[in-house]
Amino acid sequence: MAKLPILEFPDERLRTIATPVETVDDEVRRLVDDMLETMYDASGIGLAATQVDVHRRVIVIDVSDGQSRPLVLINPQFTPLGEEREPMQEGCLSIPEYYAEVPRALRVHLEALDRDGQPYEMEAEGLLAHCIQHEYDHLEGVLFVDYLSALKRDRVMKKMHKRHRQMQPA
Ligand code: NI
Repeated sequence: MAKLPILEFPDERLRTIATPVETVDDEVRRLVDDMLETMYDASGIGLAATQVDVHRRVIVIDVSDGQSRPLVLINPQFTPLGEEREPMQEGCLSIPEYYAEVPRALRVHLEALDRDGQPYEMEAEGLLAHCIQHEYDHLEGVLFVDYLSALKRDRVMKKMHKRHRQMQPA
């Protein structure tokens, strides 16, 4: 397994719309394993392939305590269950050290392929439901700051520019 570099906002590559995976082969499984290692190393609870500059519809999630229950979503589709929207604090490995509340469906029905290419479906709620919707957005080139006011998004942009200037070697 290998740790992959994570793209950071406002990198335009994060705006790419990902294409479906045709066959879940060893290459896709290697991507899944590398994404899990990358997510765990960064102490994240979700990571979309878009964030590691691979524009295929692959997501990894683990909302368990102790990084013990990895969930693999290949070609995911979800449907909100009910009209209820719930705001929850979100962060993103592509927008480090920034958190904001985003309203999303409280419960969703998910359909996806697993690491072996087997289809599965499940219902998710709370943190997991939020996480699925957040990561799915990445595959569509959408970031959680897109739901904020232009003023707030501008502040995040400035913060990130400052961060990237500081990260550059002198
Ligand atoms: Ni994210």
